[in-house]
Amino acid sequence: MCGIVAGVALQRSIVPALLDGLKRLEYRGYDSCGVAVLQAGGPRCIRTLARVEALESDVRAANLDGSTGIAHTRWATHGVPAIANAHPIFSHDQIAVVHNGIIENHEALRESLVEQGYEFVSQTDTEVIAHLVHSHYEGDLLAAVFDAARMLQGAYAIAVICKDEPQRVIGARQGSPLVVGLGPDGAFLASDTFALSTYASGIIYLEDGDVADLRSGNLRILNSAGETVVRGVNQITEQGGDSELGAYRHYMQKEIFEQPLAVARTFSMVRSLDATLFGTVDPNAFSGVDNVLMLGCGTSHYSALTARGWFETIAGIRAHAEIASEYRYRDYVPQRGTLVVPISQSGETADTLAALRYAQSVGEALTLAICNVATSAIVRQSNWAFITQAGPEIGVASTKAFTTQLVALFLLALTLGRQRARLSAGQVAKHLRDLAALPDAIRSVLAREPQIIGWAQELRRKEHALFLGRGLHYPIALEAALKMKEISYLHAEGYPAGELKHGPLALVTEAMPVIVSAPNDCLLDKLKANLQEISARGGKLYVLADANTRLQAAEGMRIIRLPDYYGFLSPLLHVVAYQLLAYHVACLRGTDVDKPRNLAKSVTVE
Ligand code: G6P
Repeated sequence: MCGIVAGVALQRSIVPALLDGLKRLEYRGYDSCGVAVLQAGGPRCIRTLARVEALESDVRAANLDGSTGIAHTRWATHGVPAIANAHPIFSHDQIAVVHNGIIENHEALRESLVEQGYEFVSQTDTEVIAHLVHSHYEGDLLAAVFDAARMLQGAYAIAVICKDEPQRVIGARQGSPLVVGLGPDGAFLASDTFALSTYASGIIYLEDGDVADLRSGNLRILNSAGETVVRGVNQITEQGGDSELGAYRHYMQKEIFEQPLAVARTFSMVRSLDATLFGTVDPNAFSGVDNVLMLGCGTSHYSALTARGWFETIAGIRAHAEIASEYRYRDYVPQRGTLVVPISQSGETADTLAALRYAQSVGEALTLAICNVATSAIVRQSNWAFITQAGPEIGVASTKAFTTQLVALFLLALTLGRQRARLSAGQVAKHLRDLAALPDAIRSVLAREPQIIGWAQELRRKEHALFLGRGLHYPIALEAALKMKEISYLHAEGYPAGELKHGPLALVTEAMPVIVSAPNDCLLDKLKANLQEISARGGKLYVLADANTRLQAAEGMRIIRLPDYYGFLSPLLHVVAYQLLAYHVACLRGTDVDKPRNLAKSVTVE
């Protein structure tokens, strides 16, 4: 979390690049933001509790200018959102730091710095870094940052400037992402490639322990041993077009409507249904696999829960879906033949990365990332990868990343099912036809938007909601509740419909809307009985029913009819309706849809 961008510009102001980068990094946190540049009279800094747009106006009004600078957008960890805690953080008006990550030994360092006479004006762990660099500074910022970094425990990506070295920025990383960007106008540092897509043509991915020394026209990288190293330069691929809002009001809205295209693009990667689709050289690389362990957080965990059913039913293979932050601290017993599948939109989620590393450390050797970012840490840490083709996802609430993860996982289930001779050629062909037709099926759900808005108008004033599903649609109920709470702040819970009578039924009154997925699957009759239990208690039902379910609207039961039952891929249709529902409830409640309070898109802290 937190986004950092910094740079040294050649013969021009660094400020436009810093602001452009910050706008692109706002998904990482938006509790406050700030920028500092070096000027002849010393460093100048502007910080605000508002968004980057407001920072830009302040910067313009103040005529902030200079060729060297650092900038930050914050997701608060240590200290409330306040100007004093906003970055850049200074030491003695000489050293300024921006930081992403958490310094775990900040208390001990703070005590020793206080003993040395340093005064702390913020509650941040970052201030420790600023003073530490200051205490090591003897005229060479690179040496000071290198020495200070060796005393830090935890995760960090930092960019540091010093008043006495006006054409220099030092970056360092350990655990948190940091890239170097090189372009005709200068050299830059940022939390991700996207932040630099306007200004850099080449990208260097720093490794843990690296310290980068950026000067005008000169770049040097030291590894953790202090040796000068050469890291490869990757050409940046422009994704800017995909990132423009265009005619849409919010990125989330745009991303919901991009799903037919994103799903089609992801499916179009299929050349052959064997392990090479997932980045292996050997088509039979999965032949020893008889168990799948999926790791993820948030929405990515719900895609794992959905896919678990596919692996079991289609491939006849044991599958587990684990919440990464829990798994990483369990005494997990490794099992031969396990394919470990970390799932992540960003590929940078700290818990998922740590869970993957933990699985590897206990002996799991087969790792396959399902990820939307080809250059991310999780992809680099895995043996193999399938890169979903969702394109940049800007809205904090994940939508198209989820549906494309599901496409990837479905393809993996088909691949394993085929390899284990669980599927005939005819069955494979039918599944592939369903995948090919999925974009149109999703479009037909999107066309239900006016009816979904009708439901949203009824739900907007509610305080709570229950989402129910069974089988493959239970994880979709969880995802629907997550979407609703994260963007509309309406308290929502997802439950398996059969579990209702074991507790949540006590909550059902007229004031508690119950929103249910009713696919025309083998559990439909059971689900109908669950609906009766709710109606009998005066509960108000909102049912997403497949066209052929024979459910009829009645007093106390609203129905939106979806297309005919779409088999194994039905969850991808129901979830799109729920995304639209959460989106419209949020709009009607006037929340900040793309940047919900307290959240961030990429969670790079534990
Ligand atoms: C954050 C985001 C969620 C996302 C989760 C996992 O909480 O707000 O939308 O599902 O992180 O992120 P990942 O990038 O690993 O999929």
